[in-house]
Amino acid sequence: MIKIAVLVSGGGTNLQALIDAQKSGAFPQGEITLVLASNTKAYALERAKNAGIETAVISRKSFEDPAQYDQAIVKTLRDHQIDLVVLAGFLSILGKPVIDAYPERILNIHPSLIPSFCGAGFYGLRVHQAALDYGVKVTGATVHLVNEIPDGGRILLQKAVEIQPGDTPELLQRRVMEEAEWKILPQAVAMLCRQLGAMQDER
Ligand code: GAR
Repeated sequence: MIKIAVLVSGGGTNLQALIDAQKSGAFPQGEITLVLASNTKAYALERAKNAGIETAVISRKSFEDPAQYDQAIVKTLRDHQIDLVVLAGFLSILGKPVIDAYPERILNIHPSLIPSFCGAGFYGLRVHQAALDYGVKVTGATVHLVNEIPDGGRILLQKAVEIQPGDTPELLQRRVMEEAEWKILPQAVAMLCRQLGAMQDER
């Protein structure tokens, strides 16, 4: 079994999409065994508890040294024998120790078509505000592997979403979630679980 950790900071609708996909058998080789939040207020923690998934909270603020924060994350993931890490609205940028501990095994969902409207400072509603300000007619979502460059790792899946007249950042965020994020994130997790499962079988 591929043990999956989902890292969250907010409402957790992408986590919910993964929980629902797992229930419907979308990634039989994998199981979400840990939800790790960057703060205690994340509603995603409630969603995890409702689904019977173990939770942990590691807040960057509680560490003086960023290296200690990264080490705490790696330790928690290792203690839970995690194979695959999914960033689902996780708003803290992970340092090199975490990335090196899980090479090609950390996925992120970003609410635009990378390389547009991405990188440091582009998160949540800000991404959709930037797309509306620029005046693009099509936006979307991207699932990519995580490396040391924010939103810079290899792209796995993308889905386009049309901008409608009268869109606000909130309306656009919701449409991008419904039409793109909640679909491609479970698909990408299924893809990686198949690959990692095949690698485990070979051993
Ligand atoms: C999602 O739109 C996700 O793509 C975005 O935050 C939202 C989290 O919503 N992530 C980023 O902007 C990362 N740069 P959720 O907590 O309901 O899944």
